[in-house]
Amino acid sequence: MKIITESRPANAIGAQALISYVFEGDPISGRIAEFDQEKGGLLKRLATGGELTGKMLEMTLIHAPAGLKAERLLLVGAGKKEKFGAAELRRLAGAALRHLKTRGVKRVAFLARESEATSAAAQSVTEGLLLADFEGDTYKTNKKNNEPIEWATLAGWDANSGAGEAIERGRIVAEGQNFARELANEPSNKLTPTVLANRAAEMAREMGLACEILDEKRIAELKMGALLSVAQGSVEPPRVIAITYTPANPIPGAPVLGLVGKAVTFDTGGISIKPAADMDKMKFDMSGGAAMIGVMRALAKLKPSVKVIAIVPSTENMPGGRAQKPGDIQIAMSGKSIEVLNTDAEGRLILADGITYARSLGCTHLVDAATLTGAIVVALAGINSGVFGTNQAFTDRLLASARSAGEKMWPLPMDDEYREMVKGSVADIQNISNGKGGGSITGAMFIREFVDDVPWVHLDIAGTAWYDDAKPWMAKGATGVAVRTLIDLAMNFTSEK
Ligand code: BES
Ligand code: MN
Ligand code: ZN
Repeated sequence: MKIITESRPANAIGAQALISYVFEGDPISGRIAEFDQEKGGLLKRLATGGELTGKMLEMTLIHAPAGLKAERLLLVGAGKKEKFGAAELRRLAGAALRHLKTRGVKRVAFLARESEATSAAAQSVTEGLLLADFEGDTYKTNKKNNEPIEWATLAGWDANSGAGEAIERGRIVAEGQNFARELANEPSNKLTPTVLANRAAEMAREMGLACEILDEKRIAELKMGALLSVAQGSVEPPRVIAITYTPANPIPGAPVLGLVGKAVTFDTGGISIKPAADMDKMKFDMSGGAAMIGVMRALAKLKPSVKVIAIVPSTENMPGGRAQKPGDIQIAMSGKSIEVLNTDAEGRLILADGITYARSLGCTHLVDAATLTGAIVVALAGINSGVFGTNQAFTDRLLASARSAGEKMWPLPMDDEYREMVKGSVADIQNISNGKGGGSITGAMFIREFVDDVPWVHLDIAGTAWYDDAKPWMAKGATGVAVRTLIDLAMNFTSEK
């Protein structure tokens, strides 16, 4: 989809649909009231009749609108003006695009409301449109009903508003997120650890990023016993993907941001096997790793001032003849011993070695993202990602990034008392809790054992990385969650702790 700014007045725009939006309680105001004069008060009548209320994501489609060159006018409900922000704008732009797409529209214009034609808004609209245009239909042979939008123009922005650059930024961010979604949507037969590593390496080459792939031999040399213990049940060999972005003028001693993403390309549970119902969804268990790869793709173009290293440990979790069994004791790369009491708690095992490796490469700050626990869905449903951190200042920075990127994230506690629950009886630690409840917290406590004092945030995205059903603004399937937050974190990274 091509996206450019539009300088013609709204009534002279010849798109198949002109999109704008109206607020609850006051739908006919400003630019919308101006349109309405040309339409002889039609909108006012719709508002009075209760058909045009401005309720969030309400769609009012008017064909052959009087006084406009556009073939259609689509007014999207924007909710209450006091609650309206970048996240609402991103969403409604996306919902409008998907509404029109199913009606065969290919060329649209988006008209900003009078007070909102800022560069930040242009970026939000661009992101919303590109995220909405993405379809998880790689393997459909008939894509007739899902053809992409050809172009969108953004109207109502001044020439000096910075909208042009904002559109470019929005495109880079959305393409990073869509790249992650495409990877996470792939079924496990098409995306093994080897294929994921190849796809990441290819992306890195195209974008001019350094990329190193550790194969099973190298992984063994580095003594990544926790990762290997998960991989040993599968005929597919594991990989560790390491992608590095280095700023143009690196400062010696400057912080290095490490992004560690869980990439289990399929999680059967291993010998502690999962029930059959919905097991197919476990192809998404590499969403954390996919997010980190998507972030790196965007950072290659956005060029933050901080050095960033993404580490993506990748494996299948299978119940093969050589699979690890409950009670097995493994030695992680850090040297810590782990009693594996449940082979389905595999994400924390591969993250343990991913984090140790990231630290060995000099990362001073760490964020991991993982579809780690079903318990996070119990706690937060599919609305918020869970946030766990040991360094309040760093956690606060991540939460601020999440807010500005429009991704809902919520902090959960990590008191020392929870540590008891992962303490080992025959090894240093065990991979499941010896108590009841708090399954997401004990998962985080396990990872913490490998982090020590490095500022670190763990994101549990098991509930937010996948939409079982389409949303008005996004196709069903992988969501690419955490990509926008982590791009924002890297772009605003400053050395103060
Ligand atoms: N990949 C799963 C987490 C998951 C579960 C994501 C359900 C989405 C939906 C993870 O590897 C896992 O199996 N976790 C276990 C941990 C338990 C054995 C301590 C879980 O949550 O059941
Ligand atoms: Mn599992
Ligand atoms: Zn898993």
